[in-house]
Amino acid sequence: MSKKVGMDIGMHQSNLKKYWIGTGMMLTFVLGFAGCGKSNEIIKSRPKDPSAKVMSETKIEEEKSEDREEKNYMAMYKEEGKLPNLSEVYKDLFSVGVAVARQDLRDEGKRKLILSQFNSLTCENEMKADSVLDRQATLLSGDEGHAVINMFKADDILSFAQQNGLKMRGHTLVWHNQTPKWFFTVGYSDAEDAPFVSREVMLVRMENYIKDEMEYVNRTYPGVIYAWDVVNEAIEPSQGHEKGLRIEKAYWYQVVGEDYIERAFEFARKYAAKEQELFYNDYNTYEKDKLLAIYNLIAGLKKKGLIDGVGMQSHIQMSYPTASDYEYAVKKYAELGIQVQVTELDIDAKTNTKEEQEKLGTRYKRMMISLNMLKQNNFADITNVTVWGLTDDRSWLNNETPSWPLLFDAKLEPKAAYFGILQDEAVPLY
Ligand code: GLA
Repeated sequence: MSKKVGMDIGMHQSNLKKYWIGTGMMLTFVLGFAGCGKSNEIIKSRPKDPSAKVMSETKIEEEKSEDREEKNYMAMYKEEGKLPNLSEVYKDLFSVGVAVARQDLRDEGKRKLILSQFNSLTCENEMKADSVLDRQATLLSGDEGHAVINMFKADDILSFAQQNGLKMRGHTLVWHNQTPKWFFTVGYSDAEDAPFVSREVMLVRMENYIKDEMEYVNRTYPGVIYAWDVVNEAIEPSQGHEKGLRIEKAYWYQVVGEDYIERAFEFARKYAAKEQELFYNDYNTYEKDKLLAIYNLIAGLKKKGLIDGVGMQSHIQMSYPTASDYEYAVKKYAELGIQVQVTELDIDAKTNTKEEQEKLGTRYKRMMISLNMLKQNNFADITNVTVWGLTDDRSWLNNETPSWPLLFDAKLEPKAAYFGILQDEAVPLY
């Protein structure tokens, strides 16, 4: 039925078990990558360097794959109306999250669905600077180095997580987007031609902003946030900077200078709780030039002990990137000894026909097979997969042209995509 998606989509589902073995070898010999992050709790016998032993390990893979029974959750749903818990299904591999907005939590049905499927949450917008910074209070306080924050929008989501034992990703501290220009200007002026503050003042504002947000969240909701997206989308090689930094419409870069990323990570490390992991997060993280620039950026931060992981946003298309390009990128980042999280997964399905939605299911399944394989074989320490939104009707992808990219429809019914992400045997791989 569906078009080829990635390198192995033409395979019959009953060959899935062999596929895991095949992909391991193929990745090793075709891509020539070795190395990975921390050792994995799932298959303790895996070698640290899979490239050396994958061939001789075929037997172990086969033995191990015997326990990997594919399930037909779709049939179970049709017969008994029951769904498994997605995060439970993946509990030995990584947490599974969803991005939510405050209004999602006012809906009883959505609250139930979230609690029955996910164990990690991300605020869609409520922890971004334009939601958090309070200009009126800042002007009243009159402190040029210290803008005032107010997290009442995020509170709704943080307290829901706290009450229900869910963990959260803190998204996001330093970003060129959704950060008001007045945060960078003298006197917090919103005049069109207002001058920017000096680098020194901006660094004080940055430190206070990160400090206030982290301290507030950690005091009020201790233990809830496990990862912070410290810097978001700082790389854009097409803009011509030698290190691939985003320089246009990028006030952090323009006011502070090139080292704003490192300073942000230093402040974040200083104020984060001990158990919280610090991430660099970006989109198109599998594109060649971008991958290289992000890799180099992270390598520098890692040497200084400032970073713990990369967030691959993963707003992907139906047939781009290929599975092999995606796997290559995950492995490449993992080489740096950092965690990889898939922080904003959605797949832009442009129509809601049965055929297109079945293809979407296949694409999700293929994606999860990759992540599953990479984690199980110790190629990468993947610690979270988060879907960017609960229901199609609320997806950001609908802002411009219609899209049906997520796991549940507007009536909260599970779609083929949902069964795909479960790697359901009823979802074909071709
Ligand atoms: C980026 C941001 C997210 C979200 C999405 C799409 O990926 O990191 O917070 O805004 O864009 O809306």
